[in-house]
Amino acid sequence: MATYDVIVIGSGPGGYVAAIRCAQLGLKTACVEGRETLGGTCLNVGCIPSKALLHATHMLHEAEHNFATMGLKGKAPSVDWKQMLTYKTDTIGQNTKGIEFLFKKNKIDWLKGWGSIPEPGKVKVGDEIHEAKSIIVASGSEATSLPGVEVDEKIVVTSTGALELSKIPKKMVVIGAGVIGLEMGSVYARLGSEVTVVEFLDAITPGMDAEVQKVFQRTLKKQGLTFIMGAAVQSVEASKTKAKVNYKLRKDDSDNQIDADIVLVATGRKPYTDGLGLDALGVAMTDRGQIKTDDQWRTNVAGIYAIGDAIEGPMLAHKAEDEGMAAAEVIAGHHGHVNYGVIPGVIYTHPEVASVGKTEEELKAAGHAYKAGKFSFMGNGRAKAVFAGDGFVKILADAETDRILGAHIIGPMAGDLIHEICVAMEFGASAEDMALTCHAHPTFSEAVREAALACGDGPIHS
Ligand code: FAD
Ligand code: NAI
Repeated sequence: MATYDVIVIGSGPGGYVAAIRCAQLGLKTACVEGRETLGGTCLNVGCIPSKALLHATHMLHEAEHNFATMGLKGKAPSVDWKQMLTYKTDTIGQNTKGIEFLFKKNKIDWLKGWGSIPEPGKVKVGDEIHEAKSIIVASGSEATSLPGVEVDEKIVVTSTGALELSKIPKKMVVIGAGVIGLEMGSVYARLGSEVTVVEFLDAITPGMDAEVQKVFQRTLKKQGLTFIMGAAVQSVEASKTKAKVNYKLRKDDSDNQIDADIVLVATGRKPYTDGLGLDALGVAMTDRGQIKTDDQWRTNVAGIYAIGDAIEGPMLAHKAEDEGMAAAEVIAGHHGHVNYGVIPGVIYTHPEVASVGKTEEELKAAGHAYKAGKFSFMGNGRAKAVFAGDGFVKILADAETDRILGAHIIGPMAGDLIHEICVAMEFGASAEDMALTCHAHPTFSEAVREAALACGDGPIHS
């Protein structure tokens, strides 16, 4: 048995960041992880492997579609799927080993195994019971499925199986046009699979700016993805090699069927809290199975905190990280802060999609008077030079004060461009502040400035 100031349960982006910050603040810290490697969903079966496959297949797409135009002639590369998976696995390994190194550097003990909390102040791992003044639950999330759909991770897969398919499918059906469905759907469409996305709602990526949704869907269609919208999946019948997806179209209640070699179920994720013993401790939960916390990440049981996908809010790695840092600060007696109004969301397709703050739909619903400044990447010299003129930057600002309320980008490097707007929002900047800031030429970020100019007297290049 060992005694710690803090034991963190789970080593995903929430847990490992919390552990490192606790150690940096002088607290004796351990982190419990049941997986064989550190890093949680994000590093092992989420953000990192999916981005590796998105990168590799984007390179292929560029070679097939744009190289010849630039005078780069020759045969387009062929796909060695086994090697692509090896590249993905190596990328995971570099990242998970990196966390191991950071744990050693910060003198954090990795308690290997699945942890539970037999009583406040105690964490059981295997047969050992460790003591801790504070416990942070960072146990993450798992994929959900649908009634009538049994996942075997071979033919009917979640994202975890989709990152590890034994071969590239001829036909893939993706259930759910959310972030996972569109990122993984893009990967396989670029690899030559016939990808059909079956979505319950009438628009893709629910909650996103409606104009972005439309342009995004149109772009993905051009890239070969097919969409069946307004379709409620009823069941999936799978054999050893194939599957049939049965769905009902909401508009006419008709029953339909589509065949697939692989079915990817991407209908959302739910908190994972199995085996922790939270029920017996009386830890309050929401009716969606999330651990309830106050604004300092405290549960209703003294000494037990919770962060990341296991609690309310967007299921994003950077949200988990920010909560991890903030909870550590609170435990160390400092002030922990997360601004939930400025958490960017990025979809790493091509083009990328990024957003922060309010959408036009949200502002309208709230009766908030706003102005929208929009600029197309067609007016951005750099974007045109690299075949990335599709898409736009939209900045939403208060009609009276000009304060930036939100931004929505579809276009090249959107996931990086969004951050100058995040910083501006953190500082309470106006669109004019951004418009008056010199932006280097030729960069994609000039499109952000032009959108800010569009909130005032107008952009220059459109
Ligand atoms: P997790 O990363 O889920 O980590 C929790 C860890 O706790 C796990 O390793 C688990 O084994 C461990 N654990 C659970 N219970 C116990 C226990 N009792 N004892 C010991 N260990 C335990 N987000 C982004 O921001 N950007 C992206 O690009 C992105 N891409 C994604 C792609 C995919 C395919 C998926 C599935 C998710 C993606 N996400 C992305 C979401 C992101 O992975 C999560 O938001 C993030 O991992 C949440 O971090 P966390 O620390 O809360 O939990
Ligand atoms: P999601 O919530 O983004 O999308 C689920 C989609 O499935 C929705 O469009 C929903 O309407 C649809 N759906 C639900 N039931 C359905 C049914 N019966 N038939 C047809 N469609 C149905 O969930 P997703 O894509 O599984 O992602 C889970 C989480 O992982 C998200 O919260 C996301 O934040 C995170 N993630 C983040 C990434 C990023 O930041 N780039 C990448 C991948 C995942």
